[in-house]
Amino acid sequence: MRAGNVKILIFGAGYVGLCTGVCFAQKYDVTLVDIDKDKINSIKNNNPKIHEDGLEKFLKLARERESIHPKLISEKFNPVDMIFICVGTPPDTDGYIDFKFVEKVVKTIEERKTEFLKPSGETIIIMKSTVIPGTTNQLLKRLEDKNICEISFNPEFLAQGTAIQNTLNPSRVILGINKKKALKRLKDFYIDFYNNKNIPIVDMSIESAEFSKYAANSFLALKISFANEIADLVEKVENADIDQIMEGISKDPRISSLFLRSGIGFGGSCFPKDVKALIRFSEEISAETPILLSGIIKVNENRPFRLVKLLRNQLKDLNNKKIAILGLAFKPDTNDIREAPSISIIKALWRSGAIINVHDPVIDKIDLEPFKEFNIRIFKDVDECLLGVDACLIITEWDEYKKQSLEELTRGMRNKLVVDGRRIFTDRQVPTEIDYFTIGNPLNRYPPVNPITRELNNKNYDE
Ligand code: UGA
Repeated sequence: MRAGNVKILIFGAGYVGLCTGVCFAQKYDVTLVDIDKDKINSIKNNNPKIHEDGLEKFLKLARERESIHPKLISEKFNPVDMIFICVGTPPDTDGYIDFKFVEKVVKTIEERKTEFLKPSGETIIIMKSTVIPGTTNQLLKRLEDKNICEISFNPEFLAQGTAIQNTLNPSRVILGINKKKALKRLKDFYIDFYNNKNIPIVDMSIESAEFSKYAANSFLALKISFANEIADLVEKVENADIDQIMEGISKDPRISSLFLRSGIGFGGSCFPKDVKALIRFSEEISAETPILLSGIIKVNENRPFRLVKLLRNQLKDLNNKKIAILGLAFKPDTNDIREAPSISIIKALWRSGAIINVHDPVIDKIDLEPFKEFNIRIFKDVDECLLGVDACLIITEWDEYKKQSLEELTRGMRNKLVVDGRRIFTDRQVPTEIDYFTIGNPLNRYPPVNPITRELNNKNYDE
């Protein structure tokens, strides 16, 4: 396998497969395969269904280079050097991971091996889908043992909104691998892809690599739930403020400042699913009940309701009250609403009889199916969404909201009550005519920031 001449096939043109694919295609020849005709057509038309910074540009470049080939599984294929499996592993209702898509891919490769695998047995099948420890070997080892292919587990660490950046500049590459020859080839591939940028490549057993993915996500989720639990305690302490406390502890490099933002908790297709899967896995292997992991979920599940409670404390009865929801996506710069706190918040408001206006900057690309029964009123313009409302809830910290002042944001509101689930205005002065409430300081009321500290922070010490 000569670098530069590498042929890659990716199963799954979803978020991971597509973002990884367009990046690889800047240097190599990539075939992207899926079972979904609409998805493949949208990629062919340079109009992918997911909203991701840089994706359209990279896709366009790859299409111009003719180095990306979106295809349906029903088409014909030629053997490649590497196959990446990037299909979804969604949870079932009990939190167990459903491997049916991964299994289907493995079955397809096996049944049509002359189309996908080199006769020499040199093709490496690389599992990128997140799977519980033991799965990759369970599904693929027999193929490796028969010398039909070589196998690896190579977790992805892309965060939505920065997926292209994360693919091009990862903090590390983890390679779970059984065989030395495959390890050398994969290492050479990544060194070439990253242009010798000294990205750490850590090799380990396949099971350790599978476990690393769950451990990494659980640890990040733990940091968020920790910050949220402290935020709840802070609310009981006069003059205390969660941002000040987190800033104070984050200067210790052993702690770091990342993933300590408190608010309405984490959503998305990864943290909730992965932490729950690890808990289920511990049951399957009859390990001791993981106390911390269960705590992460417990703390998180309660977060959205704290915001609704704050709102109820102010408005008392929500029946027929007009409430604006700012942001549906589980985080900014994505159109993904999987496990988004917006869903449980809107459901709770709807049950209380509220009239719900909704705005999100990428509303056109959001799947609104989960909100169908809640009679939400969709607005493309944030001012129109806020016009005449009794309160607004900030759910996603989009730049579009942050860049405004509180006066600008609330100018059309009938009653200027802002309940902020992301603490995006806690560093600003709140005008007296606006009621601004948030999570993580006593009485949930701003201004909590010590004015002396703020003055010192703003001072230029070189003066
Ligand atoms: C996460 C990980 O960050 C990635 O490293 C990983 O590859 C990915 O899962 C995955 O397994 O595929 P993602 O879910 O896209 O990425 O987004 P994050 O930026 O991690 O945010 C997750 C949630 O945590 C969001 O709802 C966000 O609002 C929340 N969050 C994040 C906080 O509440 N506080 C914080 O300080 C940080």
